[in-house]
Amino acid sequence: MRYQARVRSMIVRLVMEGALTARDRVGVQDFVLLENYNSEAAFIENLRRRFRENLIYTYIGSVLVSMNPYKELEIYSKQQMDRYRGVSFYEISPHIYALSDNTYRAMRTERKDQCILISGESGAGKTEASKKILLYYAVTCPTNDHMAALGDRLLQSNPVLEAFGNAKTLRNDNSSRFGKYMDVQFDFRGAPVGGHILNYLLEKSRVVHQNHGERNFHIFYQLLDGGQDDQLNTLNLERNPQNYRYLVKGNCPRVSSISDKNNWKVVMKALPVIGFTEEEVQKLLNIIASVLHLGNTQFGEGEEGETYITTEISNLARLLGVDGSALREALTHKKLTAKGEEMITPLNFEQAEAARDALAKAVYGRTFTWLVEKINQSLALKVHSKGSSVIGLLDIYGFEVLQHNSFEQFCINYCNEKLQQLFIELTLRSEQEEYETEGIAWETVQYFDNKIICDLIEEKHKGIISILDEECLRPGETCDVSFLEKLEDTVGGHPHFVTHKLANGKTRRVMSREEFRLLHYAGEVNYNVNGFLDKNNDLLNRNLKEVMCQSDNQILSHCFRREEVIDQKRPEMAATQFKNSLMKLTEILRSKEPSYVRCIKPNDAKQPGRFDEVLVRHQVKYLGLMENLRVRRAGFAYRRRFEAFLQRYKPLCPETWPNWHGRLADGVLTLVKHLGYKDEEYKLGRSKIFIRFPKTLFNTEDALEAKKPEIVIVIQSGWRGMKARRRAKRRRQAADLIRRFIKGFIYRHGEYGPENDYFLDHVRYSFLKNLRKNLPKSVLDKSWPTPPPSLDEASEHLQRLHMRNMVTKYCWRVQPEWKKQMMQKVVASEIFKDQKDSYPQSVGKLFLDSRLGTQREQISLKVVQTLGNDKVQYGVSVIKYDKRGFKPRPRQLLLTNTFAVLVDKTKIKQRIDYTALRDIALSSLSDGMCVLHITREDNKQKGDLLLHCSHSIELVTKLAMMANKTSNVNINPGSIQFTVARGKEGIIDFVRGAELKVTKGRRGHLLVVSQRLL
Ligand SMILES: Nc1ncnc2c1ncn2[C@@H]1O[C@H](COP(=O)(O)OP(=O)(O)OP(=O)(O)O)[C@@H](O)[C@H]1O
Ligand SMILES: [Mg+2]
Repeated sequence: MRYQARVRSMIVRLVMEGALTARDRVGVQDFVLLENYNSEAAFIENLRRRFRENLIYTYIGSVLVSMNPYKELEIYSKQQMDRYRGVSFYEISPHIYALSDNTYRAMRTERKDQCILISGESGAGKTEASKKILLYYAVTCPTNDHMAALGDRLLQSNPVLEAFGNAKTLRNDNSSRFGKYMDVQFDFRGAPVGGHILNYLLEKSRVVHQNHGERNFHIFYQLLDGGQDDQLNTLNLERNPQNYRYLVKGNCPRVSSISDKNNWKVVMKALPVIGFTEEEVQKLLNIIASVLHLGNTQFGEGEEGETYITTEISNLARLLGVDGSALREALTHKKLTAKGEEMITPLNFEQAEAARDALAKAVYGRTFTWLVEKINQSLALKVHSKGSSVIGLLDIYGFEVLQHNSFEQFCINYCNEKLQQLFIELTLRSEQEEYETEGIAWETVQYFDNKIICDLIEEKHKGIISILDEECLRPGETCDVSFLEKLEDTVGGHPHFVTHKLANGKTRRVMSREEFRLLHYAGEVNYNVNGFLDKNNDLLNRNLKEVMCQSDNQILSHCFRREEVIDQKRPEMAATQFKNSLMKLTEILRSKEPSYVRCIKPNDAKQPGRFDEVLVRHQVKYLGLMENLRVRRAGFAYRRRFEAFLQRYKPLCPETWPNWHGRLADGVLTLVKHLGYKDEEYKLGRSKIFIRFPKTLFNTEDALEAKKPEIVIVIQSGWRGMKARRRAKRRRQAADLIRRFIKGFIYRHGEYGPENDYFLDHVRYSFLKNLRKNLPKSVLDKSWPTPPPSLDEASEHLQRLHMRNMVTKYCWRVQPEWKKQMMQKVVASEIFKDQKDSYPQSVGKLFLDSRLGTQREQISLKVVQTLGNDKVQYGVSVIKYDKRGFKPRPRQLLLTNTFAVLVDKTKIKQRIDYTALRDIALSSLSDGMCVLHITREDNKQKGDLLLHCSHSIELVTKLAMMANKTSNVNINPGSIQFTVARGKEGIIDFVRGAELKVTKGRRGHLLVVSQRLL
């Protein structure tokens, strides 16, 4: 990276040095440097000298003048783009890339929307310039995959728009017949993220008529030349353009500089890139073909003056996607609504031809608008990106003077007047205003303000457009000539308006009676009023509209909306629509920071190397380039804000380097004095320095360049020093910390205070951090990190909290089954814990609802029936010992909710009501003996029971709980008494031994030997 940066800066330096020496090589690169800046001849000579050397670009300050070379120059390569990237405007030879880059950087640094206005007459190179600018952005701006695709679409939209909107004219083989304003949106990183195109007034009349030597729109010839055979077959087209009436008017089917076939391929490749589906392409082709077929539709006149179609129109109807007979009817009749009633009247021959042409123009014109919409969808910003800025590119038709000028030329030239007005406003006027606001004395430059012509055309009620509209809407007989008369009446006295009638003899000789002349800023133009009214009306018969909106071609049904037929309101006239769209355009442009490219055409023959002085002088004049230059020179060539100037050049003066602490103006003054600026070379305004001659600035730049190695050393040593100081500071801080830590450790047992606060805080912090990672995970885990003494109490709290937290969480998770189990275990613990040897072993074993698991142990059905509704809650096998003789008898002990029964297979041997159960006695050893003491009051009871059970803890717990006798369980260490019969007592002795044994002991006692537990 660093290496690349170094190489880049080296290249920039070399380029800059090269540029400095080359500055005056051929003429001047900036007209501001012209010795004789008032001389038009010197201006043109400079252009000529540079043009001869293929130096087609020259500046007037920040305006770029571009000559059309009419040949490919090797100045648009990627290397050239790299040359201009990030390099200051004046440091390098003039180029369209320098202007593009400068605009881009201004957008990024100032965060203000920019626009580039490209003007010049037809064929001067506006469209080429706009393409170069777009390409520059597509190649040099940062991108990712999505953006690269967008860049692709931006570039690919050009050939498509050109195919449909450009045509060969006498002046330009690829003349734009529509105006185009394109916004390119950039995100905050400066990457292109979206685009939007506004189109202006397509010259629709070209679809049906072309002047001699001109062609229809390129797309028709491209299709016929490039389309495949089967494609043409489907469209029922023949390859020869001469067969189509709409293509023969100019008698110019081929243009040597254009390859229709190749361009067709380019367009077909571009369409999918900008999002056209195969179906849409087919529909589009149908429309192009339908226009050609429409041109060949012929009419005949019947005996009674009625008009009929003499040619086959089934193909036409198929391609338009409409009903054939409805189309036939609509082309020869018109529908009128008079007094709420619909009337259909036949058209005469001329009217039918006009209706056909109107349909062709409408179909083509609306399809063009649809095309632009479609392109806009594909360029639309997909995600709204914050902080995005815009660069607008305006490439609009140039000023045009033809042999016969009609409504279209009127609109085109009006548009150029508006743009000139904007140019005046934004450059000449604003330049002068800037001197005023900065308080700089200077002499005012006179320039021609064309507002007067703009007003003549567009003023409300009084302007030419208003009069035209009025004439179109006026009831009664109106025609183009009555419009001319009205003009004479209304604006006849205007200094920029003349007609044959109003003119003096000399002018009269060059004007026909049907013309009016406007004295445009760019020259005089005679407009023939023929067709003005029709073109302004731009009417299409209602029944034709009705047919079209039923088209099954989606593009056409989108273009011809049903609402349009229903809506009675008259749409605005063409000229007014155009005027309004221009108003909007000027508003858009006014809100942006403008840059200008002024294109000049060197000759009318489209030849390289030919410099037609008369033609060039004319353009220099009407583009106002001399005025532009005079304003720049009368004032000052360059201006910069104080802070920018000081920031850049402060190393050149010891007082301002490295920092100036006083007022900015004083700093600038100190600096220029040090640099030796003479008084006439500069002036200080309120916030800017104005430098009269570029040379002064160049010299300063050179001095800066020479100074750079020195500055580098200063910056380098400053930087190194700062780094070393920073490192030393960090070390000092680290040593301080270690010291504090050690001291804190020594005084760790003392009171919390400045001696040990850091250490103790650290210990606490570490404990808490460690605790966070080592918290016990379960309630059984009793581990807990040892806290430092200062956190003893807090640690205890935390431990309790944590335990409570875990217990709560545990309880939330406990299921009802498990809860029951736990409750029994708790009771068992209360009764047996630390009382009976066998208890600890039982803790880990779950209590079950029955121990009668095996087949043999099953409760007999008979017993279940006898128990009836008293459900057995627990059953277990036991050995019952007779109270006399101690004979062991295997039995089942079943517990219900209110009593227990002793069962011998199928027979209930004994029932013990819980109410009669006095207590339960067990030994403290690990035998399974238990004695149920039964009250004697109840005669039904058979008396005490001696039982041995392998699950004695479980059994006794359950029995005690069910009988509600948990506090009546007695654990006796040595022996248990029981009643054999009334008045006769028996005794069980318990001893520890090697293994469990129940035998008769001495003195008639029962001896239970319980196994010693390890
Ligand atoms: N920089 C250039 N390098 C080479 N050829 C150029 C250059 N600029 C213009 N041309 C040539 O001049 C022709 C006309 O240029 P372009 O179409 O840009 O004119 P325009 O100003 O857009 O005219 P219009 O107003 O009729 O649209 C181009 O087709 C091309 O042959
Ligand atoms: Mg153009």
